[in-house]
Amino acid sequence: MYILGIDTSCDETAVAVVADGRYILSNVVASQIDIHARYGGVIPEVASRQHLLALLPVLKEALGSSPQLSGVTVTFGPGLPGALLVGLNLAKSLALAYNLPLLGINHLEGHIYAHWLEAREPSLPALCLVVSGGHTELVLMKDHGHFISLGRTRDDAAGEAFDKAARLLDLGYPGGPAIERAAQGGDPTLPLPRAWLKGSHDLSFSGLKTGLMPVLQKGNHHAVADVAASFEMAVVDVLVTKTIDAALSSGAQQILVSGGVAANKRLRATFAQRSPLPVFFPSPSLCTDNAAMVAACGYFRLSLNQGQDWDMDIAPNLKIG
Ligand code: KG4
Ligand code: ZN
Repeated sequence: MYILGIDTSCDETAVAVVADGRYILSNVVASQIDIHARYGGVIPEVASRQHLLALLPVLKEALGSSPQLSGVTVTFGPGLPGALLVGLNLAKSLALAYNLPLLGINHLEGHIYAHWLEAREPSLPALCLVVSGGHTELVLMKDHGHFISLGRTRDDAAGEAFDKAARLLDLGYPGGPAIERAAQGGDPTLPLPRAWLKGSHDLSFSGLKTGLMPVLQKGNHHAVADVAASFEMAVVDVLVTKTIDAALSSGAQQILVSGGVAANKRLRATFAQRSPLPVFFPSPSLCTDNAAMVAACGYFRLSLNQGQDWDMDIAPNLKIG
């Protein structure tokens, strides 16, 4: 069964075709990062207009010589309203014109399904950490279509913290990869605050950015590599500790990490060192936004036979679970 996936939730225009929820036939992503980098972050109105320009060429490339499709799936939230509308309306038009089933996909569930695109099929229940520029969520996935939210960030997402810290350090946008590069060879032991929020699976990263300011201002001339490495370590320490806690307290068999921040090497290494459960990461190109993950999620949703979503509207603040 060949499923088309479309994602225009933020700043990547993405279309993919996936077979049986697991095998990528095409996975095309047009990134707008260079355009938004000038402003130090995503400008929503610019993103919508850019999706309009990029979507049809990206669709054409992704369809290529694809076999007969069995369904159209599209991210309907969470995301930027104007950006979501572009993908949703294309998906409705295509499904109507070609008489195909139409399903709306939660972008956060999509990130989790990046794991089904890898060689090893995950075992359930699994504790999922979805960690990106917009989200930091701890979710127990009991089965396909059955998600329980255990905790989430109360303020900044972890990727957002990377982006803000990179701006304070003048390292450019997006901040995650910039901090990771700057941190190479740095000493990660400068004392930066960690918010543990004991007794809850929620997370918080806004204090860490504030904690960085005195380190930068005291005139105590720390090497940028040491500051970047210590910041990265503080985020990673909290993410890894809280994820393992949530996994052990919920009876999960595995930990599945996804979203843009899952590309981070220190995060991967620290999970490998500390976790008593197996931890999996999608390959880096499937960690960041793409539509193959949406098509994979759509395949399993379609298999559940829960009906179609012809009357759906965008849901910019959609939650998971
Ligand atoms: O999943 P994604 O592409 O888009 C959203 O849905 O947000 O994630 C982008 C976020 C950005 O905040 C970026 O700084 C962060 O992921 N990121 C990283 C790394 N690569 C991307 N953070 C830390 N280390 C990385 N290597
Ligand atoms: Zn995302």
